[in-house]
Amino acid sequence: MPGGDVVFAYDIVNARGTALTVITLGATITSLRVAGRDGVRDDVVLGLADVEGYLERSPYLGCVVGRYANRIARGQFIVEGATGTLAVNDPPNHLHGGVRGFDKRVYDARAVTTGEGRGVRLSRTSPDGEEGYPGDVHFAVRYLLDDDDRVVIDYYATSSGATPFNPTQHSYFNLAGARHSDVLGHELLVVADRYTPVDATLIPTGELAPVAGTPFDFRSPTPVGARIADAHPQLAIARGYDHNYVLDRPARPGVLAHAARLHDPLTGRTLDVHTTEPGLQLYTGNFLDGSLVGRDGRRFGRHAGLCLETQHFPDSPNHPEFPETILRPGRSFHSRTIWQFGLARAP
Ligand code: GLA
Repeated sequence: MPGGDVVFAYDIVNARGTALTVITLGATITSLRVAGRDGVRDDVVLGLADVEGYLERSPYLGCVVGRYANRIARGQFIVEGATGTLAVNDPPNHLHGGVRGFDKRVYDARAVTTGEGRGVRLSRTSPDGEEGYPGDVHFAVRYLLDDDDRVVIDYYATSSGATPFNPTQHSYFNLAGARHSDVLGHELLVVADRYTPVDATLIPTGELAPVAGTPFDFRSPTPVGARIADAHPQLAIARGYDHNYVLDRPARPGVLAHAARLHDPLTGRTLDVHTTEPGLQLYTGNFLDGSLVGRDGRRFGRHAGLCLETQHFPDSPNHPEFPETILRPGRSFHSRTIWQFGLARAP
């Protein structure tokens, strides 16, 4: 790193040969190699060749995003009567934790083995005032890979002061590896009857709108590209899907629930996402423009990968009607997301 920090990589390989690579910059997943129906292992996430790429050019490829994933309107929020002011790094709003959010920080890390798998635990302290956020936050994220091709992601945090807190994992998936230049042929299921429409700056209006009868209805498996070019105002604003879904889930918070399923018909690979979180941001790589070159020399064009960011709703600190995202002293934050990879039977 420019300041002299050394970035370490951890390779986790399970009994099937599925391989996950994590680096200590941004707790970033740089590679996740999973076998297809033909037994060939492909990298199912978009990754870069070096630290410099992640520092200088990455649109959050594979990193952990925080303190607050997604947007906070105008970088302003009020917590316990005090107004918080954050960097407006995605004008006119704050995005993904600011100019040097969690994705740009180097973590301490150690290998871990539990009954649920083998992996790595990465941790750091986000000091009071970092990127304008109040309170010292002690944060850890743990990745575990088991022998059934499950990636278990746990986030833990405590804070010395009330602060917005909403981490997520920002991997861009392409289950066909380099064999497909985009994900428009992937079939997607999202377990949600409603989503949060946005204004022209991608801030939720506050409405929880039904997906029924709209291009946002993924309640049954549908090709990502089937309606992405439809003349719908929300698709026009975001140049594709870049929206938070209100997941259908049990009322009790903290319970894991099925959120999404992605399937690539070409290779047969499937990904099922379960999470404890109330929301899932579907982002179809609308801003990728071919200028970014991946580790294998491949250029990432528009829709080269898609994100399934399990999280709370965008701008929740300014929407008291949304599930709360304020981490207060004395509370311990924990959320869990599980990626289950598998193979669909040949059609
Ligand atoms: C999130 C946002 C998108 C975009 C990507 C990163 O998915 O919702 O608007 O900023 O991050 O490029």
